[in-house]
Amino acid sequence: MTQRITIRKPDDWHLHVRDNEMLRACLPFTARAFGRAICMPNLLPPVRTTADGVAYRARVLAALPPGSTFLPLITCYLTDDTDPDDVERGFRDGVFTGVKLYPANATTNSAAGVTDYRKIEPVLARMEKIGMRFLIHGEEVDPAIDVFDREAVFIERRLIPFTKMFPGLKVILEHLSSKAGVDYVRSAAPQVGGTITPYHIRHNRTDWLGWGNKPYFYCMPVIKTESDRLALRAAATSGEACFFLGTDSAPHPVAKKLATTGAAGLFNAPVAIETYAQVFDEDGKLGNLEAFASLNGPRHYGLPPNEETITLERVAWTAPEEMKVDGPDERALIYRGGETIPWRVLA
Ligand code: DOR
Ligand code: ZN
Repeated sequence: MTQRITIRKPDDWHLHVRDNEMLRACLPFTARAFGRAICMPNLLPPVRTTADGVAYRARVLAALPPGSTFLPLITCYLTDDTDPDDVERGFRDGVFTGVKLYPANATTNSAAGVTDYRKIEPVLARMEKIGMRFLIHGEEVDPAIDVFDREAVFIERRLIPFTKMFPGLKVILEHLSSKAGVDYVRSAAPQVGGTITPYHIRHNRTDWLGWGNKPYFYCMPVIKTESDRLALRAAATSGEACFFLGTDSAPHPVAKKLATTGAAGLFNAPVAIETYAQVFDEDGKLGNLEAFASLNGPRHYGLPPNEETITLERVAWTAPEEMKVDGPDERALIYRGGETIPWRVLA
């Protein structure tokens, strides 16, 4: 039995590190194990312009533990009114790594997202021209569409037309949640890649709703059926170049998770790389962990992999239950808090 595995330092290609007190509390959990992370722009207000991106990057860097070499990659929140010139400036100045599409009202802090897809075509044309990545929350928000079908319908209705209209535009379909998503990404690679979270490969909707409504299984896109989970798990552990790591770690204060309308999102950064290692190990695929966690993502983004390494060892430890947050937010619960985790990162 493998006791230790050393891999190139992983990157998190989909992460919410928030702002202010929550940022200061949660960022160290990612910086301890990851070289870089795509920092999602769905703040209040969102990171909409290059100037917003410069300011947010400075706030993230200021929240890092002393001596950390972690590099935040900032993204631009796409709206109906995004200016292609500003996006290009942000990309050329090294401020923005990509542009993120949230369909309006699809998820947390997406009210300012896209409502009219025709209006974003000039931005997409510019991104195609300059080689800038397009990151997508791929869910159709038409109320006639069942919440479990949102990803599949978005692919048919929006994504396939975009990839045909802009064949040189490199796309990331984030937090894949369905077999339809997996099959589509495989068929559209290498133009399209997909990130996969720890919880979509570990849980199905029966875990979430079958024995009481468990708000700490609620995220967007929602966790789906067992056959979806198995397709996602096989894709992640396959080592195929089009699938890579994106935790979607998304802390919320406890009161927001437990409100009448509860917030979507799970805070998994404290156990993220360890959970992926466990899944790959359970499936006899530890040999593919480095491709998924550390190589496929940089290749899809056109960036070099990290030079540093991390070592994971088979040592049981107990995940902390919560993270304290300064100020009125107080605390956020941790995914798998209190559970025994069989792998840990060697300090
Ligand atoms: O569950 C989610 N939480 N999905 C998202 O797309 C956003 C995220 C958040 O920001 O909380
Ligand atoms: Zn997210």
